[in-house]
Amino acid sequence: MKLRRWIATGVVAVATVATLNALPATAGRQYDPAEQSLRTLGQRHGLHIGTAVDLAVLNDPADPRYRQLAASEFSSVTAENAMKWESLEPTRGSYNWGPADELVAFARQNNQSIRGHVLVWHNQLPGWLTSGVADGSISKEELRALLKKHITTVVSRYKGKIWQWDVVNEAVSDPWDNPPTLHYKGFWAQHLGPGYIADAFRWARAADPKALLFYNDYNIEAFGSGDPANDKTQFVYDMARQLRAEGVPIDGIGSQGHLGTQYGNYDTLQVAAALKKFSGLGLATAFTEVDVRSQLTEGVQAGDSAEINPRLQASAANFSVLLRACLADRHCLSFTVWGFTDKHSWVPGWFSDPPEGMATIYDENYLPKRAYHEMKADLIYAGPPYVLPRVPHRPRR
Ligand code: XIL
Repeated sequence: MKLRRWIATGVVAVATVATLNALPATAGRQYDPAEQSLRTLGQRHGLHIGTAVDLAVLNDPADPRYRQLAASEFSSVTAENAMKWESLEPTRGSYNWGPADELVAFARQNNQSIRGHVLVWHNQLPGWLTSGVADGSISKEELRALLKKHITTVVSRYKGKIWQWDVVNEAVSDPWDNPPTLHYKGFWAQHLGPGYIADAFRWARAADPKALLFYNDYNIEAFGSGDPANDKTQFVYDMARQLRAEGVPIDGIGSQGHLGTQYGNYDTLQVAAALKKFSGLGLATAFTEVDVRSQLTEGVQAGDSAEINPRLQASAANFSVLLRACLADRHCLSFTVWGFTDKHSWVPGWFSDPPEGMATIYDENYLPKRAYHEMKADLIYAGPPYVLPRVPHRPRR
């Protein structure tokens, strides 16, 4: 009896292994997870792997690899600039929907979900709006009405097509700002007061009740160990808790994840703890703009491998920290990189003194870097009991 059970178990085991080896094999070769795309590897976890997309490059016939990889490696896309207010309404009252519509069509063709970015931000506002406020021709009442109209128009146009909207972006100051006490910063807080945040979420919800509504910010990857009164992550946490308590329709917190290898950054456990604290409020979480830049020292620029290698390794390690933390939080729904190739990253144009770069997962020739392979390994070698599939989120109210 015992022997028969052993034999039976053995037969089942051999059959199972045989099936596992046979099932996904293509052309007689064994299944190798390392040959799968990021988007395929994310699927087992229910995790969307996303990228920001530059529409001009996507449409450049001289650069076909960009379009291929944007389609094949990612299951979520974000417009890098095309859905910002200055892009959508460069002249008051006349909209330029073309590039944003193209992204929506691209996502549909490739079975990708879309993170809408961004409805309310103090940067990349149209000149007519900021100058009108500055010269007094746009009053506070009119400004509030314009914001409501903007949110309603944009969210309605893409109703049912956007998975997650970044409703409010970067509303909170940094400890190095003036005054150093953390506060609501920027154009909207200055002119409308912090109440604009709750208003924006309510207007967005009214225009598309099915989209998940996110607050998005940088430097909120982990809680600090010092004074909580000076901790940006804590400030955002308190804000989110307050908004939930007031019944404001916020569904998620987006942590941008712009890191640099010259900084201390965080370890996986710190980042996972922060995500879990946010999701403990009943919110979804996401990494929304991940890149890990490095200073391009003279040695790096001269091709000195003793300076290049530590940066490539540190960059890969930091991508991995954020991805593993995301995997560890069942409410972390998506992991989006802010561009996937050093050929088209915003970093060199933005951080030039000292020059910085090398921030993405593919090099300038579209060769995958160590960071890309580490991301794959993280997706492959994660599973129960500590990494479980994502819990689906629906808009709360
Ligand atoms: C950046 C784009 O990548 C650049 O092309 C543009 O010139 C400036 O904005 N946080 C955000 C993003 O929320 O919208 C920013 O994108 C990067 C920082």
